[in-house]
Amino acid sequence: MSTPPRASSQPGFWDVRYEREDHLFGTAPNAFVAAEASRISPNSDVVALGAGEGRTLLWLARTHGHRGTAVDFSGRALATAARWAQEYEVPLDTVRADVRTWRPERRWDAALVTFLQLLPEERAGLYRLLRRIVRPGGWILGEWFRPAHLHGPYDRLGPNRADRMVPPTEVRAAFAQEQQARCTAADVNLREGPRLKGHAAVVRSIVQRA
Ligand SMILES: C[S@@+](CC[C@H](N)C(=O)[O-])C[C@H]1O[C@@H](n2cnc3c(N)ncnc32)[C@H](O)[C@@H]1O
Repeated sequence: MSTPPRASSQPGFWDVRYEREDHLFGTAPNAFVAAEASRISPNSDVVALGAGEGRTLLWLARTHGHRGTAVDFSGRALATAARWAQEYEVPLDTVRADVRTWRPERRWDAALVTFLQLLPEERAGLYRLLRRIVRPGGWILGEWFRPAHLHGPYDRLGPNRADRMVPPTEVRAAFAQEQQARCTAADVNLREGPRLKGHAAVVRSIVQRA
């Protein structure tokens, strides 16, 4: 008998959450990406996987002149991202797709992935996709909860299962062949909207493609 897919693996689960609450993950950019943004040359093409409402891409467009592509399987999240892009008068492409099966034909100068919750067997495909869609010399910036979050002195936020959190060793191994790959476990105070606020155990990675 096959196991039914988990709710949070379905776009409908996320559509309901985005409909119920505005700015689910805040309007400010992801703090880690904002801190590392100077690595990406001005006016670059940047893609975000599981982009949500596009908060980080829109900030990059406004502050660094980047052209963003927001990929998410939630139509609600992308509709908000497109509306904000219009309000801010910045370019933004939205792609409604499941990153587990999305196979674009082109490459970008940089890719972002922040707090995307995939299962272990799905993440190998995510890392392959990231390596494929970023040009040589381009950047991949990623942040996820790490499993220690469930058992340490942290606030209750993020996924409620360890298998949707990412061990640092896994990210290190996935990008070991790249030009640069720094992957660190960090204990941080997140202040990124109502669902991402508090003391958290995360893993952060900065990868430059070979
Ligand atoms: C925790 S939210 C983070 C959103 C955004 N990265 C941010 O930091 O604000 C996770 C996002 O990933 C999207 N998502 C989850 N699984 C996905 C999949 N398989 N394909 C595309 N999007 C997915 C959800 O719709 C949701 O917008």
